[in-house]
Amino acid sequence: MKTLVINGSARPNGHTSKMIKLFLENLGGEYEIIDAYRVNVAPCKDCRYCWYKKGCSIKDDMQEIYEKVEAADNLVLASPMYFHSVTGKMKTLLDRFQIYWAGHVMRHDVPETTVRKGAILMVGGAPSFPNQFLGGEIVLKNVLKDLCTECLGEVCLPNSDHDSLETRPDIAQQVVELAQKLKEANEQ
Ligand SMILES: Cc1cc2nc3c(=O)[nH]c(=O)nc-3n(C[C@H](O)[C@H](O)[C@H](O)COP(=O)(O)O)c2cc1C
Repeated sequence: MKTLVINGSARPNGHTSKMIKLFLENLGGEYEIIDAYRVNVAPCKDCRYCWYKKGCSIKDDMQEIYEKVEAADNLVLASPMYFHSVTGKMKTLLDRFQIYWAGHVMRHDVPETTVRKGAILMVGGAPSFPNQFLGGEIVLKNVLKDLCTECLGEVCLPNSDHDSLETRPDIAQQVVELAQKLKEANEQ
């Protein structure tokens, strides 16, 4: 079982990284974490190359990331909220998955079935408020969908300016349970 995690956090030891660590400890198997802040990925420029050809005209680290997605059994998308959405670097990387959107809508060479399983982890510094994670959820769920990835669930840690997985054992437990759910789904 191979898991690819895309981490949208700027801080190597921030709350998002800690959620990922706990998640992977409970999932097991092989894994790789791609840090959106530490890869060389240029913004999509809507050149429309991918409307006709399976691939991206921009030759940077994203070429390897596409291969890693293809090889993964599981895809975990994790990001802090920055102004009610994922971080800018995360969005830049995710926009480059436009080649999958084009595969569904323009080229018709991407399966309409799910081929891997996924999960979402999000962190917000503000105290919990309605729809705090909605912007991130819309982005991440729809990316998983275009990547033919069945989303098994999401866990959100609010109030990270003051709370953590240590002060919110209930949320730590949700992370553990989501990892176990993904593990079981892989075993079926
Ligand atoms: C530019 C910026 C924008 C932010 N916007 C939000 C926001 O809209 N909602 C929220 O709950 N927290 C917001 N935060 C707080 C971060 O989500 C919080 O610091 C989080 O812990 C960062 O994740 P990390 O610990 O993995 O680095 C923002 C932080 C920054 C730096």
